[in-house]
Amino acid sequence: MILSSATQLDTPFKKDVFEGLTSEPKYLYSKYIYDQAGDKLFQDIMALPEYYLTNCELEILTLHTKAIANLFKGDANGFDLIELGAGDGKKTKVLLHHLSKNQIEFTYKPIDISENAIDGLTRTLAKEIPEVNVDGETGEYFEVLERLQNFKSRKKVIMVLGSNIGNLLHPRAIQFLTKLGETMSCDDILFMGFDQKKDPQTILDAYNDPTGVTAAFNKNLLVRINRELEGNFDISKFKHWEVYDPETGTAKSYLVATEAQRVRLETLDLDISFDAWETIHTEISQKYTDKIVAWLAEASGLRIETSFTDSHNYYKNYAFKKMKDPKA
Ligand code: AVI
Repeated sequence: MILSSATQLDTPFKKDVFEGLTSEPKYLYSKYIYDQAGDKLFQDIMALPEYYLTNCELEILTLHTKAIANLFKGDANGFDLIELGAGDGKKTKVLLHHLSKNQIEFTYKPIDISENAIDGLTRTLAKEIPEVNVDGETGEYFEVLERLQNFKSRKKVIMVLGSNIGNLLHPRAIQFLTKLGETMSCDDILFMGFDQKKDPQTILDAYNDPTGVTAAFNKNLLVRINRELEGNFDISKFKHWEVYDPETGTAKSYLVATEAQRVRLETLDLDISFDAWETIHTEISQKYTDKIVAWLAEASGLRIETSFTDSHNYYKNYAFKKMKDPKA
């Protein structure tokens, strides 16, 4: 690896790609999969029969709509429903329909990194459920957390669906939950999806579909690097590989070089060499148990109020409240 001193690592993407591909072993952050093509591939993943997570969460929201709405609704002042990573809002619409039909006072505040997603969701909601008061925002999770501090005038419910927390290692998940907790008052609720441990084969199948959509999703990292950093990765010389450790509950995705090769990233003035069968670790998708979730909550100053599951017990949505401050 050779890097000229003139090369500027002047964006987080450049810096992270440089650090990841010059590390031993190599890694890339999964958040960079999500450009326009990556967003579309993730939509395709959610429609795969093997990717059970989406249907399980939809089933939970459908089976338990009333109980969840009762948990969310505040006093006569109503509440703010803030959804982080709202996407196309398909699952949330079940709740929104129920809340509006029952004339429960609330504002829906979808937040997503993709402006496209927020614009599309605002438009479809205006058509499908025009009674709902929608106030969308664009931004990254951690940056948006700061803004949540301003929602203090009435009860708020923060919703994070899709087991997105599973893409964070435990210490980072605790940091995320702690930050969310810091924005909450004692009546506020954090409602979050956590994919559960289950038959390891079911998990492997969900991340290794036979049609190759997940492989294309994973390889999109290299496609993006080629495009944005003038790279010359030969995508056909990398293989998507998934492993699942049933002890820790961690599914890990890799890109494996099928032969020795050199890759040039012109923008970074960087040459990277790969041995045959060398790996790039790209993603973790953590699977949970009640015990692990309770541990994460406690370490973050939260407690589990209640939880809801699907008919297979594959997936759970937990409602958390802030732990009482012993000094208060
Ligand atoms: C977004 N995230 C929760 C997905 C997951 O299940 O980890 C991303 C994904 N990766 C491969 N398939 C789906």
